[in-house]
Amino acid sequence: MKTILITGCSSGYGLETALHFHAKGWNVVATMRNPAAAPFETSDRLRVVALDVTDEDSIALALELAGPIDVLVNNAGIGLVGSLEYSPMRKIRDLFETNTLGTIAMTQAVIPQFRARGAGTIVNVTSTVTLASFPFAAAYTASKTAIQGFTNSLALELAPFGIAAKLVEPGYGPTTAFTQNTNIALEDVLPEPYWSQAQPIFAGMANAELFTTEAEVAAGVWEAVHDESGRSHFPAGADAVAMAEAA
Ligand SMILES: NC(=O)c1ccc[n+]([C@@H]2O[C@H](COP(=O)([O-])OP(=O)(O)OC[C@H]3O[C@@H](n4cnc5c(N)ncnc54)[C@H](OP(=O)(O)O)[C@@H]3O)[C@@H](O)[C@H]2O)c1
Repeated sequence: MKTILITGCSSGYGLETALHFHAKGWNVVATMRNPAAAPFETSDRLRVVALDVTDEDSIALALELAGPIDVLVNNAGIGLVGSLEYSPMRKIRDLFETNTLGTIAMTQAVIPQFRARGAGTIVNVTSTVTLASFPFAAAYTASKTAIQGFTNSLALELAPFGIAAKLVEPGYGPTTAFTQNTNIALEDVLPEPYWSQAQPIFAGMANAELFTTEAEVAAGVWEAVHDESGRSHFPAGADAVAMAEAA
């Protein structure tokens, strides 16, 4: 039975992906910063392990507790919507610490066991911001686009060792905790004159016909893990698939 470790399983795409792989018979190590808040019953096949991807000691301990894994899914991420002009650099650094350096640190930490076994899959969850450009998301886009380049390069470096590195690119998911998890007020990062430009864009997003569900991302990760065609990009969600086709 194969084992998958997923980061950021307290809610949203990570939670659904953990439950999906568990339902399909996998061993799942569902990691989250606060295991006491796990929104599901644990079992011998669905374990919760504490992990903050910005903390190297936490990464080392989580991997020790997890034991051998076959698949790593770097899903943990935070967002930042707003004008670049008014986005505090402290928040931008937080974005990179979690979305970019957290993913890189987790990946680096699992490579030794994957290389020793000559097998393993790394799935990095980015976003449709890497497929098309959106305003008021410049710093977030930078944090995810970096992982796109990182993954494409790493895939070539690790392929000779039987290790795959792939990207899942979810679209806009209005039902996850993603937008609530940002602790920055929209009016602080989008004051006038930006707000009058941003308001119709946000109104359009609120009424979007195409968007992404948690189930579509879980299915996208499942497809990425099981695909053997050499494909490296997996848009997940109706909006993401449409964007990838248009790109
Ligand atoms: N929803 C969207 O519109 C959307 C679109 C494209 C891509 N994405 C990407 O999809 C991924 C999942 O997002 P989501 O929509 O499911 O949002 P979510 O519900 O907010 O889930 C994000 C998860 O990341 C965790 N996390 C944040 N910082 C962490 C850290 N330092 N260490 C470990 N875990 C951390 C959160 O855990 P805590 O409970 O500890 O905060 C949470 O479990 C993210 O990478 C996001 O960038 C989201």
